[in-house]
Amino acid sequence: MDAAPEDGRKGLHVITWGCQMNVYDSARMADVLRPLGYRPVDTPDAADMVILNTCHIRDRAAEKVFSELGRLRVVKDARAIEGRRTVLAVAGCVAQAEGKEILARAPFVDIVLGPQTYHRLPEMVARASRAAGAVIDTDFPAEQKFDFLPDTQARQTPGGITSFLTIQEGCDKFCSFCVVPYTRGAEASRAVASVLAEARRMVDAGAREITLLGQNVNAYHGAAPDGRVWGLARLAEALSAIPGLARIRYTTSHPRDMDEALIAAHRDLPALMPFLHLPVQSGSDRILDAMNRGHTAGQYLELVHRLREARPDIALSSDFIVGHPGETDADFEATMQLIRDVGFAQAFSFKYSPRPGTPAAGAALQVAEPVKDARLQALQALLRTQQDAFNDATVGRALPVLFTGRGRKPGQLSGRSPYLQAVHVDGPDTLIGQVTDVEIAERLTNSLSGTLVQERAFA
Ligand code: 5AD
Ligand code: SF4
Repeated sequence: MDAAPEDGRKGLHVITWGCQMNVYDSARMADVLRPLGYRPVDTPDAADMVILNTCHIRDRAAEKVFSELGRLRVVKDARAIEGRRTVLAVAGCVAQAEGKEILARAPFVDIVLGPQTYHRLPEMVARASRAAGAVIDTDFPAEQKFDFLPDTQARQTPGGITSFLTIQEGCDKFCSFCVVPYTRGAEASRAVASVLAEARRMVDAGAREITLLGQNVNAYHGAAPDGRVWGLARLAEALSAIPGLARIRYTTSHPRDMDEALIAAHRDLPALMPFLHLPVQSGSDRILDAMNRGHTAGQYLELVHRLREARPDIALSSDFIVGHPGETDADFEATMQLIRDVGFAQAFSFKYSPRPGTPAAGAALQVAEPVKDARLQALQALLRTQQDAFNDATVGRALPVLFTGRGRKPGQLSGRSPYLQAVHVDGPDTLIGQVTDVEIAERLTNSLSGTLVQERAFA
């Protein structure tokens, strides 16, 4: 029995953990379920289907999923007493890595699906509503899932004005600590024509900024209509020709895939924003080698130098891991030195935590927890100083801001600078979706405030 609300519609509640890629995937799952009558609802108790879209990168990811499942079981049981069925699905990287464990520990889960099988979700939902047991689908099919998904409706992507577009999935780099190559599979790129068509639709629906997504996005190599394979630089060039698309970003990149063409694109394409998230993970050559990163600290610094030559104002962001197996005080100091040498506008940093099945998890010389804690604190304090200095340096300057919506206070607008800083000003709603110059007056903890340059001119 499929107890739907009276209008024939069914409620869908998606809980998303993790990166922008997962946010995007959640929107795609909602898209494939729309033709079956599923519409988003705010709470699990109003939902005929609940999807947990999980992420394996963070610490104790599986435990968090199991505790959320415990709460959802209560909701499912309560709805069952009222004669309403709830289909419970676990998707994403935890599902991929721990599918069998999930069904063993949480037999009330109806569907377990890996990231490569979202296009088969409607079929799984149909099977789950017929089947007594659970449906599990965590294969890596030979066909790329891109070919089977309906287009995202741009309205559905977070923000609308700033939209996210997945162009690449998976990773072949096999960093020692990372589950992505196992959970997301081999590196695969979406065809150019399909990326451009979706970008145009997003722009038609109001997008002014598109962030291209992929686990290893600058490894992009998509089949193009001209019979060639295009890299990310060529794709960005074609995207920047779409009228109305003001800004292009991409994330996440690997240093080894920053080729000459992409560096040159930062010089040549005004729409390509001067902000780059380029994880380095460590500043020690010994640890970079143990991590299987395929580059040295010196090569990273050289790359930063070339990027700054091409685009002097480019702001850099990175990911760092402290306490990878074998990391000594001297290795950690090398990471601190790399940070001082580069100067980051922002960064994410993590304590190493073992992921089952990855090479580093079984390595000898695991670093003690208190040592990791102390290193993370020191590293974050340094990164915070750099972030504040970067933001302080914009005070008194005029920056073009893309306004994405209202701010928290009445009459306030909020938007983003080219360097991805959050900016607030007082201004009219008519500026939402526009790029306008703002004179930065003040740095707050995590944002900037300023005044509209136009308005000052008329004051
Ligand atoms: N432990 C700690 N941090 C990790 N990351 C990935 N795997 C691990 C792990 N096992 C971090 C990396 C990566 C970011 C997305 O998450 O820094 O770039
Ligand atoms: Fe994981 Fe990134 Fe390394 Fe690929 S490049 S294995 S996604 S950390």
